Amino acid sequence: MTRPPRGGADPAARSAERAVDLALAEVERRYGLGRSLAAPGWVRARVLTILNGAAVRDGVSPLVAAERLQEDRQAIEEIVGALRVGETRFYRDPITWEAIASSILPRLPPDLPIAGLSAGCSTGEEAYTLGMVLASAGRRFSVLGVDRSVPAIEAAREAVYSAEAAEQLPPALAQRYCELKGGALHICQELRDVVSFEVCDLVHAVPTGGFQIIFFKNVLLYLAEPAGDAVARRLAAELDPGGLLFPAASEAPRLCGAGLTPVRVNAQVIAFRGPGNERTGFP
Ligand SMILES: C[S@@+](CC[C@H](N)C(=O)[O-])C[C@H]1O[C@@H](n2cnc3c(N)ncnc32)[C@H](O)[C@@H]1O
Repeated sequence: MTRPPRGGADPAARSAERAVDLALAEVERRYGLGRSLAAPGWVRARVLTILNGAAVRDGVSPLVAAERLQEDRQAIEEIVGALRVGETRFYRDPITWEAIASSILPRLPPDLPIAGLSAGCSTGEEAYTLGMVLASAGRRFSVLGVDRSVPAIEAAREAVYSAEAAEQLPPALAQRYCELKGGALHICQELRDVVSFEVCDLVHAVPTGGFQIIFFKNVLLYLAEPAGDAVARRLAAELDPGGLLFPAASEAPRLCGAGLTPVRVNAQVIAFRGPGNERTGFP
């Protein structure tokens, strides 16, 4: 049985579906955002709304608007922004943070200043959490958070969150590094001085420097295979000897497939080492 074309027999609906397919292909080509995003209907609906807006603005059909996306920076940025999933939390996946505090930091020379990177940091919670864990261990450090979203980086730099945002943070970290003011959670200045943020599209360039700890969590799943795997390899190449890259648990198999070498930090946590780096001290 042949499958009916998307959009059914209605030519206008078929043209709209084709426009959405073209837009998603362009987003993948330019930004590496996976076309797997196309599966849910809400994604297609969002893209079509933006194409309709561009079509009305330019007096063309949505299909022509999609064909012009290569030159339409405003529309393509709107689409990428609409597809962004920025979900994040302080102290997300506690077992990883506990492993860093109990197994990773004690293995790094005590006088070594630690450089941390949160690659795909969204609104900053992951980068600040890393800062809190390093500061409470008494380490000298700097943390850089990068994301391709300008509004996310602006929010990260502002460092003000809802009061509920601290719910998952261990109380000792929340009390030491956050302050409740006017019903909102403010990250303390001491931490803001050593945690910085930059807008950066990882598909085009990754931050350079010998990092001891890189978080690359819940980003790879949104990136198409060749682009996302290349980002992971480039990030791993920026690890210091002895440094480790932490993905989300669900992303670990893909990193193995991309050629990165896993190391078992403990029974529950897998991280990845840099190419040719045997000095992590983990099997
Ligand atoms: C779901 S959030 C993950 C936030 C955090 N890493 C965590 O695990 O809680 C994914 C973030 O990755 C960012 N992102 C996606 N593609 C990116 C790219 N090519 N370069 C930089 N950031 C990207 C998105 O803007 C979004 O803020």
